[in-house]
Formats: sequence, C-alpha cells, structure tokens
Amino acid sequence: MLVVMENVDIGYSKPILHNINVTIDKNGLVLVVGANGSGKTSFLKTIAGLLKPLKGTVKVLGKKPYSPFFDRSIIGYVAQDPLHQLTEPRVIDEVLLQARSTSEAYYWLKRLGLSKLAYEKTLNLSIGEMKKVLIASALSRNPRILLVDEPSLGQDISSLRQVISVLREYSNNNLVVIATHDIRILSCLKPYMVIEVSGGEVKVRRVS
Ligand SMILES: Nc1ncnc2c1ncn2[C@@H]1O[C@H](COP(=O)(O)OP(=O)(O)OP(=O)(O)O)[C@@H](O)[C@H]1O
Ligand SMILES: [Mg+2]
Repeated sequence: MLVVMENVDIGYSKPILHNINVTIDKNGLVLVVGANGSGKTSFLKTIAGLLKPLKGTVKVLGKKPYSPFFDRSIIGYVAQDPLHQLTEPRVIDEVLLQARSTSEAYYWLKRLGLSKLAYEKTLNLSIGEMKKVLIASALSRNPRILLVDEPSLGQDISSLRQVISVLREYSNNNLVVIATHDIRILSCLKPYMVIEVSGGEVKVRRVS
C-alpha cells in the first residue's frame, strides 16, 4: 500500500478533519478537493509527515511518515505558498538542493519551461514561476510519492497545461497527489481517485 489512513483525526489544537479512512494503493493521479479552509493542505501535510495526526494511524509505504526514522527521500512535497518553501538565492541552486544529478536538475527545469531562468534570483520570479521551480526541484529527486499543493497557483493556461502534462507523465510510474480548488484542473486532470474534503469529513470517490 502506498498510503493508508485508519481512523485518523487531523487538526491543530482541535480536529478539523474527523475519522478519515483512506487507502491509496496504486500509482497515478489522486486529487484532493474542497473549499478554502476545508483542510486540503492539512491533509497533504499529514501524508508528508509534517503534521502528526491527532488520532489514528497514517502509513506511507508501510511506515509512519512523521517518525524521525522515516526515509523522507521517498516523498516530494511542494507547499502551497512558494515563499514559505524557497530557500536558495538562485533558481538552479533551489533545484540542485534536491536533484540526484546536475543533468536531472536541468532536465526538469527544461520540462517546466524554466531553462532561461536557471541563473535568475528566485525572489525575482513571478509566483507562478516560483511554483514551477519548486515542482522541478521535487521532481529532480525522483520521489516515489509526489505531493503538490495548488499546482495552478499563478499559472496562466499554457503554463498550467505544461505543469499538468509533466505531473501526468510522472504519475505513470509514481503516485502524484494534488490538492486544488481550481476548476480548470478538475476538468482536465482525469485522476483515478478524488478525495473530497468538506465539513470536517473526507469522502473518497474512485473514478476508475
Ligand atoms: N498551523 C495552524 N494552526 C491552527 N490552525 C490552522 C493551521 N493551519 C491551518 N489551520 C486551520 O485549519 C483549517 C484548514 O486549513 P488548510 O490550510 O488545511 O485548508 P485548505 O483547504 O488547504 O485551504 P485553502 O483552499 O485556502 O488552501 C483552516 O481553518 C485553517 O485556519
Ligand atoms: Mg491549502
């Protein structure tokens, strides 16, 4: 099993999502959808091991993701707000931070249309470009599970198509979980599973 949640409560001082039971058992695209503030980001952070569940068990490839002994290299995580995640002064350094090799870093920059920006200062980029840099960085480590929070942030339609095409291709051999409230993504991504977060509850809909 890739991801298993059993009787999980997610929240901070008190629960925001109750009694979640979700099993993700195969590669492909999984969407997490819901209104602003419903808990999509908190749900992704829980899989990423950045948020410990208040109750129940979360296992990612059989291990608790929030354990200090968890092999973090199997998860790529792209946070919702790029300004909270970028750490390096130049684009190329941000990607090399995670890349298995220099050629892989350049490969993903190219795939996301960022080759010309490789030596720019990250903080000079637009928000949409920053987001793509962080997606390139996560991909360049070749994670078994890729979690992307709001990939469409700041993307115009052609950039969004580029991002979706890269994520879809990557999901042929890996699990890609995307959190979004963007209707443009819902209609064109064709996930095999949709996880709906609403009113403190999580409902799973298998599309295929
Ligand atoms: N660190 C935190 N401490 C306390 N409450 C938090 C924290 N982070 C998020 N919350 C609250 O948890 C709820 C869910 O937030 P979350 O960011 O997971 O929602 P979301 O569905 O991703 O929203 P959006 O669509 O705006 O990105 C919100 O009410 C939010 O205020
Ligand atoms: Mg969010």
